[in-house]
Order: sequence, then C-alpha cells, then structure tokens
Amino acid sequence: MVARNRLPPWHEEIRLANGRDVLIRPIRPDDAATLRAGFELLKPDEVRQRFLYSMKELSPEAARRLTRPDPRTEFALVVAEPLPPGEALIGGVARAAMITGTRDAEFAILVSHYISGMGLGRHLMRRLVRWARGKKLAQLHGDVLESNHAMLSLVQSLGFRREHGNSPGLVHVVLDLDPK
Ligand SMILES: CC(C)(COP(=O)(O)OP(=O)(O)OC[C@H]1O[C@@H](n2cnc3c(N)ncnc32)[C@H](O)[C@@H]1OP(=O)(O)O)[C@@H](O)C(=O)NCCC(=O)NCCS
Repeated sequence: MVARNRLPPWHEEIRLANGRDVLIRPIRPDDAATLRAGFELLKPDEVRQRFLYSMKELSPEAARRLTRPDPRTEFALVVAEPLPPGEALIGGVARAAMITGTRDAEFAILVSHYISGMGLGRHLMRRLVRWARGKKLAQLHGDVLESNHAMLSLVQSLGFRREHGNSPGLVHVVLDLDPK
C-alpha cells in the first residue's frame, strides 16, 4: 500500500499491492446509493460478520443513516474508487460511534473480498483508533464472531484484548486508550 499526495483531513489516496488506486475518505450523504449497490456484491458471510446477523439488502433508510454520521459522536471512513461521490463504488467502510453517557466508542468494519488481504483492514482500524484518541475516549470496542479468525487476529495485533461477553458466539474486543 502506497499513500500519495497531500489531501484534506482523513483523505488518503492509496495504491494497493494489485495496482488498484483507492481513495479513503469520510463517508458522505451522496454515497448512499453506491453503498447499497456495493452491498449487493458482498458475500452473505461478510454481511453476517459485519452486522452479526444476515441481511438480504441494505435498506434506503439504513443507507441514509450510515452515510450521515453525527460529526460530534460518530466517524466513518470509506474505501472508494477515486471518482466523485455518488459515482465511486465503495469497497469498504469503517465506523466508530460514541456510546451515550460513556467515554467509549463502538467500531464496525467491512472490507469487501474484492480488496481484502491488502492491508486496508489494518489501516482503517488504525484510523478509527486515531479518531477515538483525538476525541479523548477511554475505550474503543466491538463485537466479533468467535469464528471470525481474520478479525480477531487483526484486532489482537493492534493491542485489543478479548472479553467474553454475555452473547454466545461473540467475542467482545476492547482497546484501552487512556494514557498509562
Ligand atoms: C476482517 C477484515 C476487516 C480484514 O480486512 P483486510 O483488509 O483483509 O485486512 P488486512 O489485509 O489489513 O489484514 C490485517 C490482518 O488481518 C488478519 N487477517 C486478514 N485476513 C485474514 C485471513 N484470511 N485469515 C487470518 N487472518 C487474516 C491478519 O492478522 C492480518 O495481518 P497480517 O497482514 O499482518 O497477516 C475483512 O476481512 C472483513 O471486512 N471481513 C468481513 C466483515 C468483518 O469481519 N468485520 C469485522 C467485525 S466488525
């Protein structure tokens, strides 16, 4: 992965190992239609690993909600084609949302199989951690299916610890952000 040029905050142009150019940038309202189109190309397993349940489609309401994060409490980056929003296909989304009344945020991430295995998952998770640290949060955490070895291995390598929560089949992973 090679990053290039100076761009607005949270924007990065990256050339992947297979030569494909992608733009990482904050999600925008005009991504809603392409987000729904990209969802159609996902494997059922990818959807289940991300949402923790099966979904046949991303409804217009869900797409609208996902593409309008509240800048005070939420953050979402997409991996998109380097084209104007609305035209650019989206191959990955990473988001974090603060939990009301806490100094914690919950993350979720999906990098589609078309562009997985090339470092984007690790890169996006690092960006979520940077955002959470910038917000002076105490913890970034998420729920991962017990069977999702790729994600468990990724978060472990980033310093997350595992907590066995109350939901069977799920591992709760936590990164402590408070400086020691
Ligand atoms: C899990 C996921 C985000 C990884 O994204 P990615 O872009 O392929 O990840 P990377 O290429 O950055 O790989 C980072 C690390 O993930 C782990 N990993 C990735 N693919 C793996 C695989 N097939 N098997 C085992 N570990 C794997 C490794 O630890 C890897 O580190 P390494 O490159 O040093 O070996 C992606 O596969 C995905 O979106 N899956 C479906 C949705 C999901 O599982 N979301 C997580 C729950 S919210």
